[in-house]
Amino acid sequence: MKVYAINGSPRKKWNTATLLEYALAGAATQGAETELIHLYDLTYKGCTSCFSCKLKGGKSYGRCAMNDGLTPVLEKLAQADALILGSPIYFGTVAGEMRSFMERLLFQYLAYTKPPSTLFTRKIATAFMYTMNVSEEVMKEFQYPVHLGMNENYLVPRPA
Ligand SMILES: Cc1cc2nc3c(=O)[nH]c(=O)nc-3n(C[C@H](O)[C@H](O)[C@H](O)COP(=O)(O)O)c2cc1C
Repeated sequence: MKVYAINGSPRKKWNTATLLEYALAGAATQGAETELIHLYDLTYKGCTSCFSCKLKGGKSYGRCAMNDGLTPVLEKLAQADALILGSPIYFGTVAGEMRSFMERLLFQYLAYTKPPSTLFTRKIATAFMYTMNVSEEVMKEFQYPVHLGMNENYLVPRPA
């Protein structure tokens, strides 16, 4: 079993990375092969809306056609058995690099059916870890659960 964790913080040893390391260590005790990927080590952009991943019969149908530092990561994640995303909260939502990563990860698998479905062929376990410094009260006041709840929706698989 291969478990990947994605660190969306520029800091490789602080809050987010520490939690992800603990999660991977736990998975390793159950026999998982694990890997922690630091997004800030990579050079990449968010989705450029080329729509190659939506072209039925095209060579990039169902996979991101962009070619940059994120490409080998997306290829690895296509084979993952479990995926843990981690991000610090910046201005009420996930950090920019995590956002760009999510655009690339998720859009390639989005099928324009009614209702929308996924081209990802397997069901895998996913988790999202957030680190932040506001109190729970402020978190609610500023609608954090709404923003973070949307991430959960996007990761929940729907049958094709
Ligand atoms: C640019 C920036 C914006 C931030 N915005 C928020 C915020 O809106 N709400 C919050 O609770 N914490 C905010 N923080 C604090 C971080 O989310 C928090 O310290 C986080 O745990 C840092 O993660 P790291 O140690 O993995 O880098 C912000 C930090 C930075 C640098």
